[in-house]
Formats: sequence, C-alpha cells, structure tokens
Amino acid sequence: MRMMETDRNLAVIEEIQRLKKARKAIILVHNYQLGEVQDIADFAGDSLELSQIAAQTDADVIVFCGVRFMAETASILCPNKIVLLPDINAGCPLADMVTTERLEQKKKELPDATVVCYINSSAEVKAESDICCTSANAVRVVESLDAQEILFVPDQCLGHYVATKTRKKMILWPGFCPTHVRIQPEHIIRLREEYPQTKVVVHPECRPEVIALADEVLSTGGMCQYARRDEVKEMVVGTEMGIIHRLRKENPGKKFISISEQAICPDMKLITLEKVLGSLEEMAPEVKVPEDIRLKAKASVDRMLEIGRG
Ligand code: 13P
Repeated sequence: MRMMETDRNLAVIEEIQRLKKARKAIILVHNYQLGEVQDIADFAGDSLELSQIAAQTDADVIVFCGVRFMAETASILCPNKIVLLPDINAGCPLADMVTTERLEQKKKELPDATVVCYINSSAEVKAESDICCTSANAVRVVESLDAQEILFVPDQCLGHYVATKTRKKMILWPGFCPTHVRIQPEHIIRLREEYPQTKVVVHPECRPEVIALADEVLSTGGMCQYARRDEVKEMVVGTEMGIIHRLRKENPGKKFISISEQAICPDMKLITLEKVLGSLEEMAPEVKVPEDIRLKAKASVDRMLEIGRG
C-alpha cells in the first residue's frame, strides 16, 4: 500500500514538473505547508519572502501553496500574472476578523491614527490601510512611521509584541490566530524541564505570556535562519508544526521539538500534491484582486516592501 502511494506521488510530481515548465509557472510554498508540498517548491519561505519573490519573478503563472491572503498579495503585486491557489477554501480565520466596514468605522473614531495592517488581512483591508507589515518587519514598519498613534489590525498578539518594542501609542484590533493562541505557557515550562539545554523560539502571533518565556521571537523565515546557527543544537518550535519538516531537512543532526500537538493550521493543510497538479491542469482556481482595490492595496504593500526585513 505504502509503495503504491509513493509511486502515485512520484507520478503526480513528475506531471507537476512537466506542466510547470509548459505553463512557465513558479511554485511558491509557505513554511507551514505539508512536507510533500514543500518538497516541490521553487521557493519556500515566510510571508515577506514569498511577497518579495512574487514581486520579482518573471514566470507567467504563480502557484501559491499557502492561504488566500498570500495569493491575493501575489495578485496585488503581479496584475499580469495568473495566480493559482490550489484550494480556494484555504483561508485565514485571523484575516477574517477584520472587515472594511468595521475598519472604516474605527478610522472615523480615530482620525489621527495611522493604520498598519498585518499581511494576514484581505486585499480590501490592505486598500483601507496606510501600510502593511509581516511578522518579519512589524516593529521596523511601525518605527518607520512619523505618526505617534497607530491602529494595528487585525492581530492583537503581534500588535502587543510591537507595542513592547516601540514608544508609539498602539491601538490593537481584537483579532487573533486560533492556532497560535492554543500555545500556552505550560507547554514551554514542561518542555524546558524535559530539555534543559533547548532554545525556545516562538512566533509573534503567540500570546504575550508565551512570548515572555521564549528565547527568541521570530517570523517563520527568521526561525529557519536562526536554526542554522552553530550554537543552536536543540530548538522548541513555537509555531505551526509544518515548519519542522523544513527545519529537519536543512539541519540534519539537530533536534526540533514541536511546542504543542495542537499547533496545526487546518487551512494550511488543505493544499495537497493532487490539488497542485489539478490547478496546473485546469489553470484554476485563480485569485485575482479587482483593479480598483488592487491599486490601493498595492500602495500599502509597496510601502512595506521598501522597508524590507526588520
Ligand atoms: P510568517 O510570515 O512568519 O511566515 O507567518 C505567516 C503566518 O500566517 C503566521 O501564522
């Protein structure tokens, strides 16, 4: 049975590679994707790295193995390319926690605030924001602004983390990532007892109480860089566990421990090899941001890309 599955995967991968060439496509894969999907990536990375690659690629087609807001960001940056999201149901509950209607209302209440939106937001919300950020550059983006009052949407945990690093007044939207908030301080306390030498690295979408116990707070791309350091031999990984596949592959001989068995994002797991193949065969589902929204959203994404990594 296992043998048959492997053969099937190999046949699917071969067909993906053939069609990728024929369509002049590039496969971008977020660090949380299934291991077998990460393994067919032209580029695997965090939200910022994937946006930077999308902005630069000369491919005609981008197959985005991630969730909808990531594919939308690629569409915002590349209006002349076809952006495929192999499962159109792959969304982000955090991104859905802010709507343009509620944001417009809040902006009226806070006329002096500059709006910073996390990249985990819809294209419409990006269009209503002054500047975008990712977990890799949120502090740097906020610090780059002249404004002293910041409305930060939609992730209150990332916003809280930024607030600890800046003197600006941060007004936080009450959104959160359901996967990251399942990570609790007890998980770290227990793992430090079991692995006294370990480094504990967490994502800034974690709760403040969890962040307070960590050695490092990093984006997923930042975690991949950090893991390569010589002094890191053993690392508790405080984010979605899909990243462990990449960490183990890139760092043989080092130990990577998932912080919790509950750190799984069901949306990220919707993309499979079969669906990647299906999207290249049918050139669908396509994600295309309407031009009026795209132009406004692009201004906020471009401002972020000028700032780069934090
Ligand atoms: P990164 O940008 O750190 O990869 O995070 C993306 C994300 O959606 C975290 O939940």
